[in-house]
Amino acid sequence: MTAEYRLHGDVAVITLNNPPVNGLGYDTRVGITNGLEKANADAAVKAIVITGAGRAFSGGADIREFNSPKASQEPNLLSVIGAIEHSAKPVVAAIHSVCMGGGLELALGAHYRVAAPGAKVALPEVKLGLIPGAGGTVRLPRALGVETALNMIVSGEPVNSELLAGLPEQKLFDKMAASPEALLDEAVALAKEMAAKHADGSPLPLVRNLAVKHPNGDAYFQFARNMVKGMVKNFPAPLKCVDAVENATKYKFDEALAKEREIFIALMQTPESKSLRHIFAAERAASKIADVGDDVKPREVKKVGVIGAGTMGGGIAMNFLNAGIPVTILETKQEALDRGLATIRKNYESQLKRGKLKQDKYDQRMALLTPTLAYDDLKDADLIIEAVFEEMGVKEQVFKKLDEVAKPGAILASNTSTLDVDQIAAFTQRPQDVVGMHFFSPANVMKLLEVVRGKATAKDVLATVMQIAKKIKKTAVVSGVCDGFIGNRMIERYSQQAGFLLDEGATPQQVDKAMEKFGMAMGPFRMGDLAGNDIGWAIRKRRYVEKPDMKYSKTADLLCELGRFGQKTGAGWYDYQPGKRDAIPSKLVEDMIEKHRQDQGITPRKISDQEIVDRLVYALVNEGAHILEDGIASKAGDIDMVYLTGYGFPIWRGGPMQYADQVGLFNVAESMKRFAKNPRDDAAFWQPAPLLAKLAAEGKTFN
Ligand code: NAI
Repeated sequence: MTAEYRLHGDVAVITLNNPPVNGLGYDTRVGITNGLEKANADAAVKAIVITGAGRAFSGGADIREFNSPKASQEPNLLSVIGAIEHSAKPVVAAIHSVCMGGGLELALGAHYRVAAPGAKVALPEVKLGLIPGAGGTVRLPRALGVETALNMIVSGEPVNSELLAGLPEQKLFDKMAASPEALLDEAVALAKEMAAKHADGSPLPLVRNLAVKHPNGDAYFQFARNMVKGMVKNFPAPLKCVDAVENATKYKFDEALAKEREIFIALMQTPESKSLRHIFAAERAASKIADVGDDVKPREVKKVGVIGAGTMGGGIAMNFLNAGIPVTILETKQEALDRGLATIRKNYESQLKRGKLKQDKYDQRMALLTPTLAYDDLKDADLIIEAVFEEMGVKEQVFKKLDEVAKPGAILASNTSTLDVDQIAAFTQRPQDVVGMHFFSPANVMKLLEVVRGKATAKDVLATVMQIAKKIKKTAVVSGVCDGFIGNRMIERYSQQAGFLLDEGATPQQVDKAMEKFGMAMGPFRMGDLAGNDIGWAIRKRRYVEKPDMKYSKTADLLCELGRFGQKTGAGWYDYQPGKRDAIPSKLVEDMIEKHRQDQGITPRKISDQEIVDRLVYALVNEGAHILEDGIASKAGDIDMVYLTGYGFPIWRGGPMQYADQVGLFNVAESMKRFAKNPRDDAAFWQPAPLLAKLAAEGKTFN
């Protein structure tokens, strides 16, 4: 039952019951229209109340129906709202907790609305690259006035019911209930009162009949457009919200409603909306692991230990302190411990100075932090995360020690970015308790957490880490064990292509500009300078031994031989002024690249920005396909989440796999064939992953 029907005396109460947020899926919609019909057919019923069970009135469309034809199957939301408006008996919406999107549009169709205090009211469709599509842009301005409604529709942000109820001349709520507990009784009482009032057959009030106008309409909408344009250059929906609300003021209700529908349908087809809807679903899906069901109970994490107070350890500790979880941080030497603590303090103090943190919170957080040099102090920790030097020998020492001191059931995590988590687990007698937690730098800022599942990692360990990730506000994505996990394994291919582009004639700044125009937060060379070019150098040195057939441009090695490791050495692919991060194109680097071309007998050619983007993004996509095939990632959406939250891939493109889907995998495969013919490139590199070739041939997509 997704909508229940019960009589409260002579009032029929229809309660939406479709957990978790009473999404308006097909069954729920049928439940509502059946309830309305039944109530109208029953002479003993005088009025109707619609409300929601549990944690919401309604959160709007049911995301499980997102891409299914069921979403628009009759009765669709417009018909349900029509049925409410046409009910001969008064319909009262009893709103509480969450009233969003289609849920608010449904309530706007009712004759009366009662709200509980604390209800969150929103039309968040813009966040999915859409406008409200069931009358929201036409009715909300009538109920709240043009400006308040437009602000809500353009921002998509929730507003508290009391705040809306306090607006002068608002017509959204007929009444505020004294409390959420009193809501239903008060709604039933209002329903009875209104049934008596309209017993004479006088027409019931409808939002559609309210007037809507703005005293300076043209100027106001022009102003609104200018404001919105500046804020959202890669997304079409916000401006369309302005169009739709303006239509509401210029056209008759039904005409404006039809125009809203047209805009909604057109936006559904845009790549931006497809990407945003994909991300919405992928983010939720990433937190679920196929073979770790709800029956797997997470372990309790009340105390955390961090080993190593360097770049990563300090940031990792801050995540837990911010969430109110005590952290004991361990180092081998007092100076290193002091240095680590000073960095954490400095970070918080800078937040304090910028007004981002209050003094009492700062004090609370620092009080939760215990520095130590003694492993014994970790014996109570429920989760211990290691962030020491990236050397197997050091990891071995640490994990053997942890195995001795950690309490039974404690989770032992490694933040390693390249080492084999299974090998690390084997240093202990409890490999089932070992897992990778790969944070990204700066660890207190970056959203991504790759959770590396070893072959022995217990299911409840995974469930715990996924839960704790949510608590510290990370986007957790599960990766299998392999060199580089998901993100860095792909970025290596991307950097490889970036190097070939330099050999062939591009400059670092041209490549960076092309990628930044595509939407990447930073091009590959600026990224290298930020992360440290020596990291890639160390990896390549390893590759030259492990995989001697692998082809690389030598330019990055030449750069490192000059000691140009990036921002930390004041010079990398670019020059840097002391203390500044602005990347200044370097004559020395250009000459170095040119000399390398001459040594190799390469005549440089002009390379288009499109070729740069295609080669770099498809390098990611092809490796992503291998990662899927190898079972390192369980779904393409996980790979997209890694790139969106950890590597600055543009949100409006939905992630590399989603982008490839939108280009069409057939087209991607064709381009790869073309690149393979370029003698300066690497034909083996462009051999399409079997999964990519198969999907392309079948006309299918990754997501
Ligand atoms: P770091 O060199 O800044 O810090 C390492 C810290 O560990 C130092 O303070 C050192 O004194 C301490 N340490 C070394 N041996 C120890 C031991 N036996 N017991 C206790 N403390 C010990 O290194 P960073 O960058 O923080 O890296 C740490 C780990 O995080 C490595 O495994 C690295 O691969 C990984 N990682 C690094 C990222 C980065 O961007 N720096 C990103 C993601 C992971």
